[in-house]
Amino acid sequence: VSGLIVAMDGPSGSGKSSASRGVARALGLRYLDTGAMYRALTWWMLQLEVDLGDPAAIAARAGEPMLEMNTDPDFPGVTLDGTRVDGPIRYPEVTRAVSAVSAVPEVRRRLVALQRELIEAALKEGGIVVEGRDIGTVVAPQAPVKVYLTASEEARATRRSAELAGTTVAAQRVELARRDTLDSTRKADPLAMAADAVELDTTALTLDEVVAEVLRLVKERA
Ligand code: C5P
Repeated sequence: VSGLIVAMDGPSGSGKSSASRGVARALGLRYLDTGAMYRALTWWMLQLEVDLGDPAAIAARAGEPMLEMNTDPDFPGVTLDGTRVDGPIRYPEVTRAVSAVSAVPEVRRRLVALQRELIEAALKEGGIVVEGRDIGTVVAPQAPVKVYLTASEEARATRRSAELAGTTVAAQRVELARRDTLDSTRKADPLAMAADAVELDTTALTLDEVVAEVLRLVKERA
């Protein structure tokens, strides 16, 4: 198969989504937001009032809703059992609960398999930019271009609070730190930088500069 995979990992608020979409558009590739998939299952479990303190209860329902992803970078979308859930998956209660759901191995097994299918399909159309926490390490370790985005805590919290109404930078700082600790200390596929990833600190960069740097890496490595 000829086609390019660009793996974009990093903690919350490091600028992965905007940069990944920008790179996909610039190169005419598909785009996959794997965080949206974990968020969608989390939203669905909150609707069902699954006890998110109980990993076995989460695992028992992990296979249920039909999950479809639109990988067009201009219209990315998540559909659960036929209903678009792009708005609800960004609700604060989903953001607070997602790390508990994403830590459950049965959830990861299902979503990683789905992610690999979507990547396979996209490779036939030129390739895909995939963003997440474990893309370079677990989902697509064969990706020739792996970027690990970081930014200072202050910058990440400032970006998040600009995106969300009714929150403060200080509150976002606490929330991001909590989620990063959970995501990087879990047993199953923790947030980690692949040995062959290039670390890109976006603290002092504009979105256009981040995209340009990734495009430069693509030229160099792919
Ligand atoms: O990227 P985003 O902040 O939307 O991701 C939401 C959550 O989904 C993360 O905090 C993490 O718990 C989980 N996630 C994951 N593996 C990925 C992508 C996201 O565990 N590849």
